Parts: sequence; C-alpha cells; structure tokens
Amino acid sequence: MDAKGKVVVVTGATSGLGQAAAIDLAKRGARVLVVGRDAARANETLEQMKKAGGDGEVILGDVSTVAGARKLARAILEKAPRLDVLINNAGGTFKTESKTAEGIETTFALNTLGAFVLEKELHGALAAAKGRVVNLATGFLDSFPVEVDELVAPKKYAGLAQYGRSKQASVMMTVEQAKRYAAEGVSAVSLHPGVIMGTRFGGGQPKVMQLLAGPLMRLIGLGCTLEEAQRRFFVAAFGDVPNGSYIVNGKPAELPKQVKDEAVRAKVYSLLEKLAVSPSA
Ligand SMILES: NC(=O)c1ccc[n+]([C@@H]2O[C@H](COP(=O)([O-])OP(=O)(O)OC[C@H]3O[C@@H](n4cnc5c(N)ncnc54)[C@H](OP(=O)(O)O)[C@@H]3O)[C@@H](O)[C@H]2O)c1
Repeated sequence: MDAKGKVVVVTGATSGLGQAAAIDLAKRGARVLVVGRDAARANETLEQMKKAGGDGEVILGDVSTVAGARKLARAILEKAPRLDVLINNAGGTFKTESKTAEGIETTFALNTLGAFVLEKELHGALAAAKGRVVNLATGFLDSFPVEVDELVAPKKYAGLAQYGRSKQASVMMTVEQAKRYAAEGVSAVSLHPGVIMGTRFGGGQPKVMQLLAGPLMRLIGLGCTLEEAQRRFFVAAFGDVPNGSYIVNGKPAELPKQVKDEAVRAKVYSLLEKLAVSPSA
C-alpha cells in the first residue's frame, strides 16, 4: 500500500471525513485534488495538506446534479488526465424532502447519482492509471431496503431512510462497477467509514440523534475517531482488497442482503445509466 506520487480526487474535502482523508493522503505523498463547493473551506484543506508536508490543488464544483458533476469532471480532467483514485465522499442527509434543479430527490442525487456520473466522466483517466473508485456508504444497510422505483421520488419521505437507501444503492452501483470494469483493471470498493460524530454530517439529523448517537455508537463499538477513519480511507483507496468489496471497520465485510440480489443491482445500475444521460426524464 503506497500513496506516493498517486493522483487522488477527494470530493467533499472541505469538511469532516473528506477533509481528514485529503490531509492524510497528501501527508502520505499523494497529489490530492480537493473538491468542494466553498472556496474558503477548500483552501483551508489545501493549507492543512501543505502544513502536513503534502501538496495538491483545489477544484470547485457541485456533484448533486448531473450537469454539475459533468462540469466538475471536465475541470478535473484538465488537471489529471491520469487518475489513480477517485473518492466519492461528498454526501449528506436531509431532514426535509427536496429536489435538485433536475427534479431528483436530493439525497439520492448527491450520494449516488453524482458519484455515478463523476466516475463515468472520469473513467478514461481511471482506466489510464488502472485506478480505483471508492464510493462512500454507511452501515446498517439491511435496515434500508431499496425500492428502485422510489429512489428518484420517494412516496413517503424520511431523511434517514432515504439516506440509507441512497447508500445501499451506492453499494449496488459499486459491485456493478467492479464487475463491469475488471477487465480494464479499474477497481471499485464501497466504504463505511464508521460512525464519527463532530463532522457537519450530524447537523442534518434530529437534535436528539446528534446528542445521543456519538456516545451510543462508542458504547456499542461502532464509533470511530477521525484518525481511524483516515486509516480506513487509506485502506479503501490503496489496500489490497477484493474488487467490489464493501469495507467496514477497515476490512471487507459481507455484502448487505439486497446488494447480493443481481436483479435489483442491475435495475439500480440501469436507472443510474438512464439518469446520467437524461436526468430530467
Ligand atoms: N460522519 C459519519 O458518521 C458517517 C458515517 C457513514 C458514512 N458517512 C459518509 O461520509 C461522507 C462524509 O461525511 P462527513 O461526516 O464528513 O460529512 P460533512 O462534514 O457534512 O461533509 C460532507 C462534505 O460533502 C460536501 N458536499 C455536500 N453537498 C455537496 C454537493 N452538492 N457537491 C459537492 N460537495 C458536497 C460538503 O461540502 P460543503 O463544504 O460545500 O458543504 C462536505 O465537504 C458522506 O458521504 C457521509 O454520508 C459519514
């Protein structure tokens, strides 16, 4: 496992886990392209990378729409025609339902579709380096079965459930990417980093969850420090793990039940392919 001289894109590198991973990977010698929406926060990450002895660049962009992800990919390709690792870390959960300008439920648009489009657009650069895509997931996925027809527009919205579904769909997407790209030498893994309170992520949860989740998760052994999370990102990006792995606690874990269902996976993947071409359809 060596990050030296590798080119790594980290989306959502302006905060929390993405920021911590960007700093750690830069410290390990990777050239990190810091992707974010906010210039000041992105530059702060770059500063911290430099302080840690690393280097990279800032690229601004929004991955929650297909048009935004495509535009961002063009800017990345100018800096990195050859890309070793794409970490699709940008993500979030939302208390109230909303849609993107392209008419897609925001959680799914940001956590899954944006990641899908970014990889598609950067695929040539990843293939040139026989690189890897890391898609951020979460845990407890068996509790959030996907209704494929409702990903874009859920019948009844609940923030946490839609978050879980979007992440389950991301794990399905990852397994399909791994299968489809193996011959080209491009690998794909999904990563549950652990439960880390204190990032901005928790801000989208009800207050009571924000207060209780950290201590509760630590108590049952699922809580994780930023340092542990950094190590897990490193393993996901550069570790010798099987293609298509779902990495939990820093090692490959059993796939969630529904992810093993080839028919559902294929349906999710073809939905993503369709939306990537025509998101407003
Ligand atoms: N924290 C946890 O316990 C936990 C557990 C499991 C999985 N995860 C996953 O880990 C990832 C990082 O979470 P975190 O806890 O570090 O959350 P965070 O502190 O809220 O960071 C989220 C990052 O995503 C970026 N982002 C949000 N919407 C975006 C958009 N439309 N376009 C581009 N970037 C956007 C944010 O950028 P701005 O600065 O522009 O807002 C920020 O940099 C997420 O995918 C999350 O689902 C977290």
